[in-house]
Amino acid sequence: MSDFAQHLIHWQQIHGRHHLPWQNTHDAYRIWLSEIMLQQTQVNTVIPYYLRFLERFPDLTRLAEASQDEVLELWSGLGYYSRGRNLHGAAQRVCERHGGAFPARIEDIVALPGIGRSTASAIAVFAFGARSAILDGNVKRVLTRHFGITGYPGEKKVETSLWQLAESLLPAHNVATYTQALMDLGATVCTRSRTACDHCPVSTSCVARASNQVACLPTPRSR
Ligand code: ADE
Repeated sequence: MSDFAQHLIHWQQIHGRHHLPWQNTHDAYRIWLSEIMLQQTQVNTVIPYYLRFLERFPDLTRLAEASQDEVLELWSGLGYYSRGRNLHGAAQRVCERHGGAFPARIEDIVALPGIGRSTASAIAVFAFGARSAILDGNVKRVLTRHFGITGYPGEKKVETSLWQLAESLLPAHNVATYTQALMDLGATVCTRSRTACDHCPVSTSCVARASNQVACLPTPRSR
């Protein structure tokens, strides 16, 4: 296992978040809902919406049966309403094509509306124990800094190499802990500004820190 993964897993066990409402479950519906809500919204904002949503739609079938208006009403305030519409559409599709059981194969998950490669991986990792890499905005920030990767990560070439790197770093075991560690590190330590390098478990091997580039990575879009 890479030192990077090993240090992250160890850090997660001590300093990571373990009691978020979508943790300590393998219910793919609950994990999926959390990952969609968390795509553009911070944890603390998501929590009350998440709990209310689950109270009204405790499982995927109940969500599929609801009207779009009712789904969007519960989404109201979270913003990015296409997420709510896609969620509802995906629930209906899971009912039609998968008999109401959330699919476990990444190819089937990523085919659902509103689910990109990274979200599909996160769901597969947390719900089904898959060994699959994630690469959301937080992870791009962690990886570009740690490995000193320059170039705008939204650019195809850069993104492709980041996916390769993310895959090469995956540990053989404890992938869920490792994945949560990457998310938590990006959210609480390797943040966009006021970065807390003193608390980072991999700061001694961080290229950006050693070369004083933390503030300028990831490289912004050129304009
Ligand atoms: N952001 C995206 N997915 C998350 C998760 N599972 N836990 C915390 N923050 C997240």
